[in-house]
Amino acid sequence: MTMLQPVEPREVAATRLAPLRRHLLDVDDLEDADVLRLLRRAAEWKGQGAGALPPTLRGQVVATVFFEPSTRTRLSFELAAQRLGALTMPFDVGRSSLEKLETLYDTLQTLAAMGVTMAVVRHRDNDVFAGLSQRTELSLINAGNGTEAHPTQALLDAFTLLGRLGRLDGRTIVITGDIVHSRVARSNLKLLGRLGARVIVCGPRELLPSDAALRLLGATSAPSLEDALVDADAVMCLRIQRERHAETSSRESSAQSYLSMYGLTLERFARARPDCVLLHPGPVNRDVELAASLVEHPRSLILEQVRNGLYMRMAVMEWLAGVLP
Ligand code: CP
Repeated sequence: MTMLQPVEPREVAATRLAPLRRHLLDVDDLEDADVLRLLRRAAEWKGQGAGALPPTLRGQVVATVFFEPSTRTRLSFELAAQRLGALTMPFDVGRSSLEKLETLYDTLQTLAAMGVTMAVVRHRDNDVFAGLSQRTELSLINAGNGTEAHPTQALLDAFTLLGRLGRLDGRTIVITGDIVHSRVARSNLKLLGRLGARVIVCGPRELLPSDAALRLLGATSAPSLEDALVDADAVMCLRIQRERHAETSSRESSAQSYLSMYGLTLERFARARPDCVLLHPGPVNRDVELAASLVEHPRSLILEQVRNGLYMRMAVMEWLAGVLP
């Protein structure tokens, strides 16, 4: 008969085994030096091509916990983790014990007990991470929360812009559309400003933050897209996020009238500088925020953003794992 090994007290084990635990909840969690390291590392991964990659994330187990739909963010995190040797655990919220009212904290602790080291979380609530980041035993990555933040989208957008423009310092970037409901806009406004870009927002007045809020983010607004585009190096169109509007909103308007009044039409884009590039984080609603044919325009970087998302998310998970060179 074999004797069971004495069980180490839980507190002692947790102290001894606790890894370097970082979270990425918004771009504010990154020092300027971290941002530069992530941009450089994403460029290195992009330069590697499609061959076998060193398994720098071997030993990591990455759960994707999405309470809202996603194509780009969820799949690129899963692919990025797999390409660097991590195990992935796509977590099905609707078939989990969250449906039996288990809390998200208890769910994350349960995943951590199974060996999950990182959780990529998307949630409708701005406050979803409040209290979680201090308590969970795994690293959290914000894959988009409410109207608050989407840090990896901002990082991949900056990486995409740098790839085309060479530098962001002194560049003019226009963000147009539903700014006030957009977590992409908020994270981008913070990061692009830190990288030296001049950011101008425009859109229907009721979909713009107040001037005071914009000032805090170092941005300004323009009265129209035509005005904003005059000196633009890049224009980023954002979807109208109807799922985050009040049901009885007076903001509802037909797709056609939105496009003609506020969207990026062929005519408006033709009046921008001839080297002005076009971005959109996706998903795109063609012929609403931009003319359908602009998606495939030679200066559209929309699919380049998707490609770059993979490399940036590789770098982000290396940063979280403490193995980013
Ligand atoms: N840009 C973005 O977050 O896309 P998904 O909703 O498809 O992840």
